[in-house]
Amino acid sequence: MENIKGTTKVCGIIGNPVEHSISPVLQNKLAELMNINLVYVPFKVENNDAAKAVEGAYALNVFGMNVTVPHKSNVIDTLVDIDPLAQSIGAVNTLVRKEGGYKGYNTDILGLKRELEEENINLDGQNVILLGAGGAARAIAFLCVQENAHKVYILNRTIEKARQIADAVNKHFGKEAAEALSMNEYDKIKGTGYVAIQTTSVGLYPAVDTAPIEDAEFYKKITAAVDIIYNPATTRFMELARAQGARAFNGLKMLLYQGVSAFELWNDVKVTKEQADIVYEAMKKEMDIH
Ligand code: ATR
Repeated sequence: MENIKGTTKVCGIIGNPVEHSISPVLQNKLAELMNINLVYVPFKVENNDAAKAVEGAYALNVFGMNVTVPHKSNVIDTLVDIDPLAQSIGAVNTLVRKEGGYKGYNTDILGLKRELEEENINLDGQNVILLGAGGAARAIAFLCVQENAHKVYILNRTIEKARQIADAVNKHFGKEAAEALSMNEYDKIKGTGYVAIQTTSVGLYPAVDTAPIEDAEFYKKITAAVDIIYNPATTRFMELARAQGARAFNGLKMLLYQGVSAFELWNDVKVTKEQADIVYEAMKKEMDIH
């Protein structure tokens, strides 16, 4: 705090709520480690005020912003430029200051990409099962096909929402890579060796003893399982996958790397694995995750 002066770069996160966001801890730790005079603060912005907030931030010379629920789509109209993948997903979580306004990126998805790389999960030519069809699933479906996944099955309780994502992805990439199924139609998925990514809220604390699919037969199809939930650190979905021999990971590294990627975009630096590991430990400590 004693380093805050006229030249300090100011960054922040807009959302509602933002009180529980881990991003201030993550970003301020990164700034300290990388020796960059930058301070990062939470801004609670009411649901209809996203555009005003972004304009105001630009006028205040705010250097970079994160955007969280419910503003990830609302802010797009205020941007001077947008990364093509973020544009196709229809959601941004990072704003980088440019001439005349901000450019939007989706580092949630860059974060997952980096987590998958770190865990040696290669999507190229891979068959993927995506559980859920909310905002996160939509972004991940685009990532999978962009990374050249062979086939992406999108399973959701409400099949219509899975269909909408599959249609959007197939239209965007001009091929029939994604297919929608109802959550209980997993027996239509043949063979083994799938990467499964869990994006529903089922299993989230405090309902820790639930998973979107219980049947062991489903988990036999999977070699690697990623849950985007990180609280609890080991979800029932991860346990069920491990019980059938799959490797399984939670969403904490995705959260870490969305922040690391944003910090890199703002400051034009590269955060090393060692620095990221230190931030990861600081996050876990703050969140009381072990
Ligand atoms: P996010 O933006 O994090 O993806 P979301 O848009 O609220 O969150 O999406 C929540 C996802 O969890 C949806 O896929 C939802 O399924 P529906 O589309 O059928 O609502 C899924 N979900 C939530 N509660 C569920 C439950 N009890 N059983 C199965 N799926 C559930």
